[in-house]
Amino acid sequence: MKKEYVFLLVILTFILLAGCDKDEDPLPEPGLGWTYDPTPFELVYPDNFPIMILDEDNPLTEEGVSLGRMLYYDKLLHPEGKMACADCHQQSSSFSSGDAVLPHVNLGWNRTFLWNGKINGNLEDIMKFEVEEFFVTDVRKFNEHADYPKLFYETFGVENITSSEVSKAISQFVRTLNSFDSRYDRILRPDGGEVFSDSELSGFDIFFTEKGDCFHCHGGILFTDNMFHNNGLDAAPSEHGLSEITGNPLDIGKFKTPTLRNVALTGPYMHDGRYETLEEVIDFYSEGLEVSPTIDPLMKQANRGGIHLTEQEKDDLLAFLKMLTDNTFITNPDFASPF
Ligand code: HEC
Ligand code: HEC
Repeated sequence: MKKEYVFLLVILTFILLAGCDKDEDPLPEPGLGWTYDPTPFELVYPDNFPIMILDEDNPLTEEGVSLGRMLYYDKLLHPEGKMACADCHQQSSSFSSGDAVLPHVNLGWNRTFLWNGKINGNLEDIMKFEVEEFFVTDVRKFNEHADYPKLFYETFGVENITSSEVSKAISQFVRTLNSFDSRYDRILRPDGGEVFSDSELSGFDIFFTEKGDCFHCHGGILFTDNMFHNNGLDAAPSEHGLSEITGNPLDIGKFKTPTLRNVALTGPYMHDGRYETLEEVIDFYSEGLEVSPTIDPLMKQANRGGIHLTEQEKDDLLAFLKMLTDNTFITNPDFASPF
C-alpha cells in the first residue's frame, strides 16, 4: 500500500510541475539532462609572457574550449561542407599550411589580424569575420544537428545557436593554442637544462642586436610586435597591404609582422609566399632589400641592400630561427582533431 501511495504522489508532482512550467515558460525546454554550469578553464602560460587579452563576455570554460576544438575541425562550418578551419590551419605546421596561411600560435595576444590588418579587435572579432564573412557558415545546420544543440547549451546556456556563439567557441579554443616550449624557451627557463650551441648563440646575437636588427619588429617573447611594416620586399609594392584598409598612401606595402615562433614549419614565407625556404628569407634580409617610399626606417641598411651577413652568420641566424620550433605544441593531443 505504502509503495503505491508514494508512486502516485510522484506522478502527481510530475504532472503539476509540468503544468507550472508550461504556464511560466513559453520557450521550448532544453533537452532532458542538459545543464548549464560550465567549468572555468585554467589557461597556463609562462611568467615571461605578457598578460593575454581576454574578453569578459567570453570567459574560457572547459566546455567552450572543447566545443571550439570540435568546430575548428568540423566541415559542417562550411556551407557546402567542403572544408574545416583545420584543413588550412594544420597543427603539424603550427596551424598554417601552404601559401601565406597565417599560423594560429599565440594569437590571444594580437589586436590586429590578417596580413593587411583588415580586422581590429580581439579574437572574437576576427572569428566573427571568419565565420560570417569568410566561411558564411549556415548556423541552421548546427541548430538541427543531433549533438551540437546540447553542447552549445552546456557552454553558453543558449537554446538557439547563432554565429556569435560559434565564433566565441572557436576563439576559446584558439586562445589555448599557445607555444612556449621551444628549445629557446627551455634555455630561458632556469630549470630548462639546455644551453645554446655556439652557432645558435651567434645567431641569437645577430637577431637581438643592431647587427641583424630583427628584434625591432620580431622581438619580445612573442617574436612579433603585432604591427605593420614595409620590410623592403619590393621597389614598387604591387600589393598595397595596410593601405587597402586605411586608405593612407603612407601605408602602401606594409604588412603584419608575422610571429617567428615555429617559423621553420610555416613556409613558404611572406604575405605572397614568395620565398620557399628560410635560407631565401635570410638571403633577402642580407642582400636583397629594395628601397621604396614607404620602407620602414628600421630597415637601416636598405640603401646598401641589407645587413650583409657572411655564410657562417647566415647559418647561425638560421640555427637560431630553428630553435623556435616547439614540438610539444605541434604534437599536443589537446589541439588535435577530436573526431
Ligand atoms: C582555404 C584555407 C583556409 C581556411 C579553410 C581557413 N583559413 Fe584562416 N587563413 C587563411 C589564410 C590564407 C589567411 C591569411 C589571409 C589574409 O591575411 O588575408 C588566414 C588567416 C586567418 C586568421 C588571421 C591570423 C592572423 O595572424 O592575423 C585567423 C584568425 C583565421 N585565419 C581563422 C580561421 C578560422 C577560424 C577558420 C575556419 C572558420 C579558417 N581560418 C579557415 C586560410 C584559411
Ligand atoms: C621593420 C620591421 C622588420 C624587421 C627589422 C625585420 N622584419 Fe622580418 N618581417 C617583417 C614583416 C612586416 C614581415 C612580413 C612582410 C610581408 O609579408 O610583406 C616579415 C617577414 C619575415 C619572415 C617570414 C615569416 C612568415 O611567416 O612568412 C621571416 C622569416 C622574417 N621576417 C625574419 C626576419 C629576420 C631574420 C630579420 C632580421 C634579419 C627580420 N625579419 C627583420 C618585419 C620586419
